Amino acid sequence: MPIRIEDAGAHVGREVEIRGWLYNKRSSGKIHFLLIRDGSGIMQAVMAKSEVPAVAFQAAEALTQESSIIVRGMLRADPRAPGGYELSLADLQVVQQAAPYPITPKEHGVEFLMDHRHLWLRSRRQHALMRIRAEVMKGCTDFLDSRGFLRVDTPILTPASVEGTTTLFETTYFDLGRAYLAQSGQLYNEAAAAAFGRVYCFGPTFRAEKSKTRRHLIEFWMIEPEAAYMSMDEYMELAEEMISALVARVLERRRGELDVLERDLKPLEAVQPPFPRISYDEALERLAAAGQPLTWGEDFGGDEETIISSAFDRPVFVHRYPAQCKAFYMQPDPQRPDVVLGADLLAPEGYGEIIGGGERIYDPAMLERRLDEHKLPKDVYRWYLDLRRYGSVPHSGFGLGIERTVAWIAGIEHVREAIPFPRLLNRLYP
Ligand code: 4AD
Ligand code: MG
Repeated sequence: MPIRIEDAGAHVGREVEIRGWLYNKRSSGKIHFLLIRDGSGIMQAVMAKSEVPAVAFQAAEALTQESSIIVRGMLRADPRAPGGYELSLADLQVVQQAAPYPITPKEHGVEFLMDHRHLWLRSRRQHALMRIRAEVMKGCTDFLDSRGFLRVDTPILTPASVEGTTTLFETTYFDLGRAYLAQSGQLYNEAAAAAFGRVYCFGPTFRAEKSKTRRHLIEFWMIEPEAAYMSMDEYMELAEEMISALVARVLERRRGELDVLERDLKPLEAVQPPFPRISYDEALERLAAAGQPLTWGEDFGGDEETIISSAFDRPVFVHRYPAQCKAFYMQPDPQRPDVVLGADLLAPEGYGEIIGGGERIYDPAMLERRLDEHKLPKDVYRWYLDLRRYGSVPHSGFGLGIERTVAWIAGIEHVREAIPFPRLLNRLYP
């Protein structure tokens, strides 16, 4: 009976079959130690010459790394074995003898590994990362589902920009002219929020941005909740609860993966609500005090974010940014119209902004003015302006970048390893 390695515990003392690949091998004359991976885990299989057909023993002798194999044997619990279980082999079938595998246990450079991303995904480290990624994504949707948010998907091919025209990916759309890949699902989310009250979209988003930092991808995944009648303060409460729930979930369910990555768990355990909240103006004072002054009105770069967040042991909200450095849709603060009711969440340990969000303009005249100021073509935003004509309400939402969140929780250097096939400024392959 074929089993999966992750379910081994349920099959101890039985003859089982595992279908997988050879991860690694050691031999000592009369005995082969095969490390077998099947996608769900890695298990050691021991093959004694005296206990298998001669052809099987010879096949194991010649077996190359990543050859595909089907093995049968007695499953035993063994506390000394990696993973706690071991297979005593009775037979081995080679499905394909692999060509010399380019990724060997020795160290390889990142560019080499990225060129072989299609194979690199088979490694233990990448397994840990992809499992944490899946856990984060599931954690987000479970959290929002439990809060009454309905998933309403938004289009990827769109006629208009959300986050400024300088980072649009352009393509032609039959006879209708230009189309752009979505930078965010937000505008459609706002229509959905007016229809369903609380919604979220979740999908790939695109930024044609010539940034080559450890935080930037050209294609990244974003989950975006949006709710009618939600204020900025309520948005921050929702976001801090969501982030805290996510971190707790990964700590609980993906401890083994965090161990593989040698993640220091202490900083993650500190992630509990409430998160500190500081204004943009206060952030500027902190930057000046740290010897990194910034002119009022400029947006933060990665260095500024690192300085601001390093003062706190958990994520920090920075709110009330100058209107001039934020997107056209941001609601001005009625007390002080030169700043907007937007807030970003900066992750600790130098990971930078993981969430951007806030209140949206709901007054039609003001929104039209902003579109003009930003020189955006009003005809493609007609439907968006309609939302302000037919039962307009104050509303808020935010976008959480999955890869930055995964990179932070997993404690890795660069977002490129937080997505299966990264799209970077200098990389479209594989
Ligand atoms: O701050 P951003 O641009 O906000 C929006 O797109 C809003 N429309 C979201 C909303 O309110 N519904 O992006 C949100 C998040 C960032 O905080 C970051 O985590 C991630 O998306 N992000 C990127 N991640 C990787 N590479 C990039 N180039 C990213 N740009 C943004
Ligand atoms: Mg942002």
